Amino acid sequence: MPAYGIVGAQWGDEGKGKIVDFLAENADMVVRYSGGSNAGHTVINQMGEFALHLVPSGIFHKTVDVVIGPGVVVDAPVLLKELEGLHANNVDTSRLLISDHAHVVMPYHLMLDQLEEKERGGSAIGTTGRGIGPAYVDKVARVGIRVGDLLDPSYLSERLENVLRTKNKILEKIYGADPIQFEKLYKEALEWGQALQSYVASVEQRILDALSVKSKIVLEGAQGAMLDLDHGTYPYVTSSSVSIGGACTGLGIPPSQIIGIIGVYKAYSSRVGAGPMATELNDSMGHEIREKAWEYGTTTGRPRRVGWFDGVAAKYSSTINGFTSAVLTRLDVLDGIDPVKICVAYEIDGKRVENFPSQSKHLSSAVPIWEEMSGWSKPTAGATNLADLPNEAKAYVERIQKIIGCPIDIISTGPKRDESIIVRSLVE
Ligand code: GDP
Ligand code: IMO
Ligand code: MG
Repeated sequence: MPAYGIVGAQWGDEGKGKIVDFLAENADMVVRYSGGSNAGHTVINQMGEFALHLVPSGIFHKTVDVVIGPGVVVDAPVLLKELEGLHANNVDTSRLLISDHAHVVMPYHLMLDQLEEKERGGSAIGTTGRGIGPAYVDKVARVGIRVGDLLDPSYLSERLENVLRTKNKILEKIYGADPIQFEKLYKEALEWGQALQSYVASVEQRILDALSVKSKIVLEGAQGAMLDLDHGTYPYVTSSSVSIGGACTGLGIPPSQIIGIIGVYKAYSSRVGAGPMATELNDSMGHEIREKAWEYGTTTGRPRRVGWFDGVAAKYSSTINGFTSAVLTRLDVLDGIDPVKICVAYEIDGKRVENFPSQSKHLSSAVPIWEEMSGWSKPTAGATNLADLPNEAKAYVERIQKIIGCPIDIISTGPKRDESIIVRSLVE
């Protein structure tokens, strides 16, 4: 004890990277538990500005061990490039460990992700194209290649030969694509293994050992709860367990070890890719927020859809995760916008609905019921004291706190590490 889970509470890009980097100051270990290079976690600190896809956001702290856990899917070339970028900025990565159980995103996963999306036509999910869905499919189908396999040439050869036989049939016969050559891929995969060898370890016991000596562990989530495979807006979701349960299954730690479950919320909503978003703003206000906040994907550069804060979705994600506290980010983006709106319920088929609908099709027809609040003209940007927030901004934060039903312990007022208001210390 103790572990603290940091979970995206909306549709991803809530600012988890910034918050994990900030909280890591008081941590001994930071562990990524799910997802893959579909994640893009921005960290801005004294070492520079970074967009991390696989390396945990605790990497900038010299005394913090960082771990890519078994539940993550690893694209080796992306990871190697990310490590190169960190080294070029003098970031020490020697404390990184990669689970030998983590699955490898293979080139055929990338190909299939893109081919499947094309095949879906008008109902495409709008994936990041990073091979995430196909990699998790293979994990579940028990035909995945794991990071540890990259270090075992004969086992890798046997596994890869078997998998490629089927994959090439799919690529050629279903999609009319070129097959993947075994020799070339095998050689590449061995090279990845060699390049990553010094980082690869059996990490589960190390995490449990750290917990047993009361090390402070930050469990870094990726994506957001509304993209959770089981609990999100299916089928417009990612392919992993984003919510706090994913930290237990993805890392092999018991739930009882997690003493803090911290939901990271953005002060409004954003979503990349397709799928219902009840509070989406398709007007000049949406445009204004997108441009002001530079809401463009960290991983794909796609413009993010933006909207007012969705209180119904926010309460749902707090409930399914059991958030013990929350972080509210990007409050500064709303500076100067008056009035601001919060969706407190939906109208679906003429009825007021306060619980999040279980079917995406119902959400698509949901009409938000708004609560309008006064905006604020005095800027919150860069504020580090609660007392410095204008009363209207405080009232807005308090209203969100009431809706989600747990205390907002950190309010983030800018992208930099220290642009934060600590209402109550989280990792103690
Ligand atoms: P993540 O995927 O949850 O880590 O979030 P991203 O990094 O994809 O997107 C969040 C964006 O918001 C990044 O550009 C951050 O630098 C930025 N950011 C984080 N917190 C704040 C904040 O409080 N205010 C402002 N203006 N930007 C923030
Ligand atoms: P972070 O960790 C925002 C979205 C994609 C798409 C859906 C499925 O930076 O918050 P996938 O490639 O996972 O199969 O795509 O999920 N998505 C994200 N949106 N932030 C992310 O990660 C995301 N990871 C996946 O846009 O809609
Ligand atoms: Mg992101």
